[in-house]
Amino acid sequence: MATKSENHARGEKKPPVKIRINGSWHEFEPGRDIEPEMTLSYLLREKLGFTGLKVACDEGACGACTVLMDGKAVLSCMKLAAEADGHEILTIEGLPEDDPVIQAFAKQCEPGYGTALQCGFCTPGFVMTAKALLNENPKPTPGEIKEGLSGNICRCGCYSGIARAVLHASEDAPKGGKP
Ligand code: FES
Ligand code: FES
Repeated sequence: MATKSENHARGEKKPPVKIRINGSWHEFEPGRDIEPEMTLSYLLREKLGFTGLKVACDEGACGACTVLMDGKAVLSCMKLAAEADGHEILTIEGLPEDDPVIQAFAKQCEPGYGTALQCGFCTPGFVMTAKALLNENPKPTPGEIKEGLSGNICRCGCYSGIARAVLHASEDAPKGGKP
């Protein structure tokens, strides 16, 4: 059987790129929907309208564009859209309203709790990074939370409120269930 690259060398049409995004499969035609250099962040934000993820630095240094790929955090500005072929992508739009991390961030913003966000630009990236962290380690220590969030930048300096929100999310998660 001919390989993908052999087919391409013969000028045959490339197979579609298939990505499951927030629970639904999407198919993209190479050359029409996806260019080889297109980033996953561009595909998600500009082509599909998942504007929850933000693009700030566009060079892998701030975490604002974090999404989950097969449950793990990835910087979507540093990933080619085609690399997501066959994978499961989750953006903040794919989380339910009662998600424990979303709830913890919302609660942390109520008066008396200290704040987990001001402008909110970094929040989706922090939420998705926290999801990945809690997927791997449902009961992290404050030190592990700090370490786990260390790749994300908040220009408003809400780090302590964000860390408390993640700690509360881990405490509120149902036992044995995924946060
Ligand atoms: S926009 Fe991707 S890491 Fe900053
Ligand atoms: S809340 Fe403004 S950048 Fe974090």
